[in-house]
Amino acid sequence: MNPELLQLLCGLMEQARASGDPEATAMTLATVGSDGRPHARVVLLKSIETDGPQFYTNYHSAKGEEIRAHAEVALCLHWKHLGEVRAGGVQVRIEGRASRLHDDESDAYFATRPRGSQIGAWASLQSQTLPDRSTFDARVAEYEQRFADQDVPRPPHWGGYRVLADMIEVWRGREFRLHERRRWERFADVWRERLLYP
Ligand SMILES: Cc1cc2nc3c(=O)[nH]c(=O)nc-3n(C[C@H](O)[C@H](O)[C@H](O)COP(=O)(O)O)c2cc1C
Repeated sequence: MNPELLQLLCGLMEQARASGDPEATAMTLATVGSDGRPHARVVLLKSIETDGPQFYTNYHSAKGEEIRAHAEVALCLHWKHLGEVRAGGVQVRIEGRASRLHDDESDAYFATRPRGSQIGAWASLQSQTLPDRSTFDARVAEYEQRFADQDVPRPPHWGGYRVLADMIEVWRGREFRLHERRRWERFADVWRERLLYP
């Protein structure tokens, strides 16, 4: 994305963090299933780069399998505390194609995570049926033992995605529902901006 747009998004992100929102990086990620049905869930936005936003997950999860088959995704962030009081906050919508980060990028981020989360990434067969909680507890104990007294390596099935954005929309709540919508669309490498009726 162009530098002004990147700066705008990073600035909003910082404002949201400073606004006291306890989950300022939580965003809805929508993927498309093989049957054409949309699936949405919350993931954490790790960073916004020139290419677009990044998030981390289990590549074998339902979302991972959906992205493998169909890379088009949509993201939605809602920062309730920004903008005019009680006017709806700020919503950012991002659409584009998700692709896996390089292994060394995922390794570098995984190494910064708390040890408990690193063990969890090995123990969780994310999105698969869990017969009972004790089965999960036993897997956690198994990996704690396996990696005792050593750094926990990144599981090959866990890592990041970047979303190569081709549509970004910033919605700012205004009094009397006279909201502001600014939309940017990428055509080849050129971003064009327009306003939309709210
Ligand atoms: C606040 C919040 C943050 C979350 N962050 C992540 C995340 O960064 N990565 C992730 O894989 N799941 C995250 N989850 C769990 C997902 O919403 C979801 O339950 C999980 O990834 C399985 O989704 P799937 O079966 O559709 O693949 C988060 C949930 C919440 C409520």
